Amino acid sequence: MIKNIRVSGFSRRPAIALELGDSNDHEYGVKIAFKTPSGQLPKTDLLIVLSAEGKKPKLPSGVSVPPNALKSFGGESRETRFADAVEGPAARVLLIGLGKGKKIDPDTVRRAAAIAVQKAEKTDAASATFWIDLALGKQAAELGQALGEGIVMGAYRLTDFKSDPKTESLKKVSIHAVTDFNRGAKIGEMTGGGNALSRRLQDTPANKMRPKDMVAEARKIARLSPRISVKAIDEKGMAKLKMGSLLSVSQGSAEPAYLIHLVYKPAKKAKRRICLVGKGLTFDSGGISIKPSARMDEMKYDMSGGAAVLGTFHSLAALNPDVEVHGLVPTSENLLNGEAVKPGDVVTACNGLTIEVLNTDAEGRLILADALAYAEETIKPDAMIDLATLTGAVVVALGHELTGVMGNDQALIDALVASGEETSEAVWPLPIVDFHKKDMKGEVGDLRNISSPGTGAGSSTAGAFLSNFVGEIPWAHLDIAGTAWGASDRDYQGGPKGTGVGVRLLLDYLRKQ
Ligand code: BES
Ligand code: MN
Ligand code: ZN
Repeated sequence: MIKNIRVSGFSRRPAIALELGDSNDHEYGVKIAFKTPSGQLPKTDLLIVLSAEGKKPKLPSGVSVPPNALKSFGGESRETRFADAVEGPAARVLLIGLGKGKKIDPDTVRRAAAIAVQKAEKTDAASATFWIDLALGKQAAELGQALGEGIVMGAYRLTDFKSDPKTESLKKVSIHAVTDFNRGAKIGEMTGGGNALSRRLQDTPANKMRPKDMVAEARKIARLSPRISVKAIDEKGMAKLKMGSLLSVSQGSAEPAYLIHLVYKPAKKAKRRICLVGKGLTFDSGGISIKPSARMDEMKYDMSGGAAVLGTFHSLAALNPDVEVHGLVPTSENLLNGEAVKPGDVVTACNGLTIEVLNTDAEGRLILADALAYAEETIKPDAMIDLATLTGAVVVALGHELTGVMGNDQALIDALVASGEETSEAVWPLPIVDFHKKDMKGEVGDLRNISSPGTGAGSSTAGAFLSNFVGEIPWAHLDIAGTAWGASDRDYQGGPKGTGVGVRLLLDYLRKQ
């Protein structure tokens, strides 16, 4: 259990709350200590030294390795070199390259940290020590954050469903670095923890991560901090609020739907109120417009937007930004039985708009519609951002490395693109134009939930549909269908798994408010 982590070497600053509840511990099993690099290196199983290309690696005093280990090491990005025969307090030394260039690339540090943690596990190390002796300049905090994130994200593993999980060897990580770097690393531990939580929810099979489990996870997060509160509106409550669109999707499922509403209030009075909305479809079979069976299992990831919102809240209390944050997660299951919504059915959203459900597989927009309209009506935020695994079309357009962004406010879109660059969670703008909006007008009802045949631009028409539910509020929609899972290998994430995309992005955006 990580509680009241002591940070030696620098005084506590109120900007970073250093107390942390229990649940982070569940997301990654390592305990991180922060030290300034003065005096002697304490005993450690693995000493990790990061070194730029073309520079001689600098080892702590009292540690020496065979000269060949250093000579054969060039310092290229992601290059690694083990030295076993070591004199001094370290049992082993691992050199990791950071590449060349005037500035050090944060994503290279993030990857180096993840590589280090994985190598530590492979060599059964129980303790590992990062020795950061680099010319950091103004990059210290940024690179520290990247290192903290890389450690936590690199250590993430889902073993909940193995009958005999391999026990992880690595228990303790120490970081020896200057104060600014350590402060950044502490933040990185928090943001990485939110990412890991999000990935656990994503990777958990749909029979173990049902709408009611999403609610339970939200309640656990609220218990971490007195500044976070939560309520879950059940189907009765939704009916009272006339959320006919949200309710229609779970009609064919035995699992009841919920609308989770989390609120984070900062210690100081906030200048801005931001609302995050995440699609929390715990399984998407397509409904009566059923999906093909090949790879249907991947639709357990259809709650990734909701997972991103919960992961963000997990980190919020610890980071304590001066902004009020609301998190809405409509969560339900899109299945089919005799009561399921049918193609052609008309449903009514809580803002009064009627929708022809021409395809029951375009269900994400149906649950977001009521959540967005509810936010607009009752929360009245200064800005609202939704995240959703909304369209297969965005995977065709942008693949698994870029999130599509669209909306009604250029400044908000620009801010998200900037946060995407900052965090290596890249975000790319897509259009919503009047043509897309017109195409979503209904024949029988006000709107239709899919565009007319042959229109194409499936991500834009989906965004155009959503634009009917946000009123005048500055709004951005992030289509994470590609980036939420199955991304390319980056050492700290990648492969046929969830990425936790959105958590680090949103935290960066929120911390700049
Ligand atoms: N959850 C899917 C989108 C999706 C597809 C996510 C692939 C991840 C990977 C969404 O509910 C959906 O089924 N969208 C349809 C919309 C169509 C019926 C207009 C799609 O993209 O095919
Ligand atoms: Mn669908
Ligand atoms: Zn879906």
